Amino acid sequence: MAIGQRIRCLELGNILQSMSRVNRLLEHQDYICYMEKIDVLEKERLFCKHGFEHGLNVARIAYAYLLERGELLLPKESVYAAAFLHDIGRWVEYQTGEDHAEASARLALPLLEACRFSSDDIQVILKGIREHRRHHEENLTLLGAALALADDWARDCRHCSVQAQCYKYNQAMNQVVY
Ligand SMILES: [Fe+2]
Ligand SMILES: [Fe+2]
Repeated sequence: MAIGQRIRCLELGNILQSMSRVNRLLEHQDYICYMEKIDVLEKERLFCKHGFEHGLNVARIAYAYLLERGELLLPKESVYAAAFLHDIGRWVEYQTGEDHAEASARLALPLLEACRFSSDDIQVILKGIREHRRHHEENLTLLGAALALADDWARDCRHCSVQAQCYKYNQAMNQVVY
């Protein structure tokens, strides 16, 4: 193997290693089960759905936003874990009416523990999940603010057929920011 190719393999290995807990999370049977429930319950939903793609978009936008602001204190794995978990309680809200930010935080705790996130990281992630709908509040944590912003910008509003009925939609959302 050429030296350049060997370095690229090593780099990829390091990157994968640095995200191993997030990837373990995505393979966890409870995470998969919650996502399947949401998929079934959102089959007829006209507005944005909350599957894997939404979580991935939120993760990438939240991380880009934090990097752009020079906020390097939050580990990338915590940002991605929070983004993938922030809506996993949607199925609870559909079935019981409980606020999904609270339900998501509750369901996320055992998943994060199983994937060996530290208790300090878990507290930050759960707070961010709880705050992800509080767009207009002040004093959000850094992660909560990043998730709230990313949650709005992770949507293709420009090509959406139900703009007129969507409570989230405004004209600025036709523009690309992240
Ligand atoms: Fe949400
Ligand atoms: Fe969301």
